[in-house]
Amino acid sequence: MNPTGDSERLIKPHLLRMKPYGYIAPVEIVAKDGGIPAERLIKLDGNENPYGCSPRVKEALSRYPYYHIYPDSEQRELRKALQQYTGAPADQIVVGSGSDELIDLIMRLFINPGERVINCIPTFGVYHFSTESYGGTVVAVPRDESFAINVPAVKEAAREGAKVIFIASPNNPSGNVTAMEDILDILGNNIMVVIDEAYHEFGGQTAVPLVDSHDNLIVLRTFSKWAGLAGLRVGYGIFPPKIAGHLFRIKPPYNVNAAAQIAALESLKDLDYLQRTIKAIVSERQRLSARLAETGILRPWPSEANFILCSVLNGQAARAYHQLKERGILVRYFDTPLLRDCLRISVGKPEHTDALVAALSEIC
Ligand SMILES: Cc1ncc(COP(=O)(O)O)c(C=O)c1O
Repeated sequence: MNPTGDSERLIKPHLLRMKPYGYIAPVEIVAKDGGIPAERLIKLDGNENPYGCSPRVKEALSRYPYYHIYPDSEQRELRKALQQYTGAPADQIVVGSGSDELIDLIMRLFINPGERVINCIPTFGVYHFSTESYGGTVVAVPRDESFAINVPAVKEAAREGAKVIFIASPNNPSGNVTAMEDILDILGNNIMVVIDEAYHEFGGQTAVPLVDSHDNLIVLRTFSKWAGLAGLRVGYGIFPPKIAGHLFRIKPPYNVNAAAQIAALESLKDLDYLQRTIKAIVSERQRLSARLAETGILRPWPSEANFILCSVLNGQAARAYHQLKERGILVRYFDTPLLRDCLRISVGKPEHTDALVAALSEIC
């Protein structure tokens, strides 16, 4: 034990001040706190896949004999399979423990304390969180009233010295994609552009083919959403060749565990199955949106992802959120200057939509 008892003074000052990430509580905790059996909860707050992973994943994981051996640090087999899936060369692909880890590694590679990162708010919270964890400065560039990127303001921030920009496309929580012409326009500004395509499979647009011709473009993807592997943590990035080499040099040696690598590989061998679940989610998205609009108090925003952002028109979003939670239906609630009175609802199975709409009709 430190005899002076003040070892906190050794912590980096900017981390002492940092707010924790507002993560979603696990199902078992919500169930215990709310006195509702976990199997009765309807979880529409994490943009997870309600159909789960491919059955091939569970089978392969139960057969795997080498859990006592370190996994392949170079992720060779998985990167080869990802070359096939994405069309990008394997030596430009790096796999991470979720795309969250790749966001962290990108900051580690580019951002010194005080350097600037452009964040097009409202958006995914990890960009802000990771920037702060490296002592970087977040330059918030608000999206317009329909959540499109303010390209002139982004260019201005780039001229003023920002080094990296993160653009989620489709964006979380708004669900819209960034137009390819805006992406191309932003690429011409001598900053690292990270297009986060976590929800790509539910919309289809991609910037991957542009990585070939732009050495300042990174595209991130994940297995958490379309492949139902959020709990196993597998994401990947497609990087310009030189940047991929540097990321490999600085990443933790065994960052993607054996189970995650097997699960991702098996998912890529079962695309027919997974594409059927993606189709089910996309068609349910349309039905959910129509049913939410019919309530008369929710305004669903168009979405190319597996969730729908809704403005609550009677100013009762907080009440709706809490009353849904009491009934075992979990959604995300936002009340920030750019997201007043909003709910974000993940697309579930048809029976989840029915239960949600029935509950909303009792509440509203
Ligand atoms: C835009 C976006 N990027 C990345 C992630 C994180 O993905 P992963 O589970 O691969 O870390 C999420 C998760 O919600 C997200 O919404």
